[in-house]
Parts: sequence; structure tokens; C-alpha cells
Amino acid sequence: MSAPRSAPLNTRQTAPWREGICCPLCRSPLYQQPGGWHCEQRHSFDTARQGYTHLLPVQHKKSKSPGDDANMVAARSQFLNGHYYQPIAEQLNRSLTDYFGQQSIAEPRIVDAGCGEGYYTDRLMQALPAADITGLDISKQALIAAARRNHSVRWFVANSSHLPMADNSLDCILSLFSPLPAREFARVLKPKGLLAVISTGAGHLLELRQLLYDEIKDTALQPAATIRGSAMLCWPK
Ligand SMILES: C[S@@+](CC[C@H](N)C(=O)[O-])C[C@H]1O[C@@H](n2cnc3c(N)ncnc32)[C@H](O)[C@@H]1O
Ligand SMILES: [Zn+2]
Repeated sequence: MSAPRSAPLNTRQTAPWREGICCPLCRSPLYQQPGGWHCEQRHSFDTARQGYTHLLPVQHKKSKSPGDDANMVAARSQFLNGHYYQPIAEQLNRSLTDYFGQQSIAEPRIVDAGCGEGYYTDRLMQALPAADITGLDISKQALIAAARRNHSVRWFVANSSHLPMADNSLDCILSLFSPLPAREFARVLKPKGLLAVISTGAGHLLELRQLLYDEIKDTALQPAATIRGSAMLCWPK
């Protein structure tokens, strides 16, 4: 991240701007040009050669390398590439395709928040080629892997609790086995926007957790209790 030294950029005439993407520092619109993104306050964010853009200012992270590390990302990729969870991806894609069809939303704007290494994001982009899809995760290592999967998805290193998105700008947010900051998701969803959550049940990896921990905490997420007021597709129900 750096501020350009030259005069303010005359961005509005020259830059394609996907309305709704915001500067993580000053919240003004972000404009895209070859090589990166910038705002009118002269904050600029380079797109890495791997294809992701780092929109995570130091004040939005609690450690130097937040989120999953390289080993965790590689292990997840290895598992997901075995297609054990392919039925989940297929069900998600069918449900979203049906939903946007019913709502006559031809080009839905979707964010996969906590996208990890992009397994589901990539498949969703293939299922909804007209959609505008952003995958974001707080882990840079995850984004390096994700950007390899699909060049049509926009990939951001960012914090789900400080989304670089304007208020009321999204048709859909996905939270797939990932954190669910309810207030921030409510801010960026359109009034009739869809929050799609997939989470694990109370028995998830129970045998393994029993071996590892003295005390087993009830980790089952109850998104309906967390979020109110948005349409929801939720597994498990
Ligand atoms: C269990 S993984 C799920 C990844 C992906 N959705 C999947 O199902 O393969 C949870 C992900 O959430 C990310 N994460 C954790 N805290 C986050 C935050 N505050 N903002 C964005 N991503 C976060 C982690 O880096 C990790 O990639
Ligand atoms: Zn800015």
C-alpha cells in the first residue's frame, strides 16, 4: 500500500469503476486501473502478480499474518481437491441459481467472505458467469491459492468485519465455514439481499476434538439467531 507522489489522479474519466468497492482507509470509491486500485484521496493498492489485491490496512488486523497460514491453506486445498465436498458446492450453486432466477437478478453482485483458497468461489463463478463475484479472506496465503483457481473472480485480502464495500451494495454474501460478523454483513447487503451460510453442526470432527482437547466446546453456529432481517439459505437448518 502506498500513496502516489504525483498530482491527484484524474480517475473518474479514465478508470473503470465497479460501483460499490470502497477504500479501506477513507471509505471513498475505489477505482480500478491496470495494476491496481486507488481512490481520490490518493490511497493506492497494487494488484499482486498472482492476481489478488491487498486491502487490509494494519489497523484492520490483529497479527502480522492473520487468518489461515500456508500449511493450513495447502491442507484445505488438498482435501477440497479430492471433491469430498463437491455435493455442497453443487447444492449451493443450484440454490443460488434458482434464487437469482426467481428474483430476476441477472448479474448478482456477490461476496464470498472468508473464501479461503477459493474452492466454492471458483465453482460459483463457473455456475453464474454473468455474476460479479468477489472472494475475500484475511489470509494472504489463502488468496495466493485462490487467485490461481479463477481469473474472473475479483480477489481481495480483507477483513470480513471491515468489508471494502459500500452500504446496501450487495445482492448476496456467502459465509461458508467462516466468521459471520452480522452487523457488517447487514450494512453491505441490499435491503432484500441474501445471506447464504454453510456451517458445521455440533458434532463436527467430534472424535478428533475429543482426542485433542480436555474440554469440548459447543461450536455449533446458529446463524438464524445471529442475523435477523435478511433472507437466508442455511445449512444445517
Ligand atoms: C474454515 S476456513 C473456510 C474457508 C472457505 N470458505 C472454505 O470453506 O473452504 C475459514 C476462513 O476464514 C478466514 N478468516 C478468518 N477470520 C477472517 C476475517 N475476519 N475476515 C476474513 N476472513 C477470515 C480464514 O483465513 C479462513 O480462510
Ligand atoms: Zn482512500
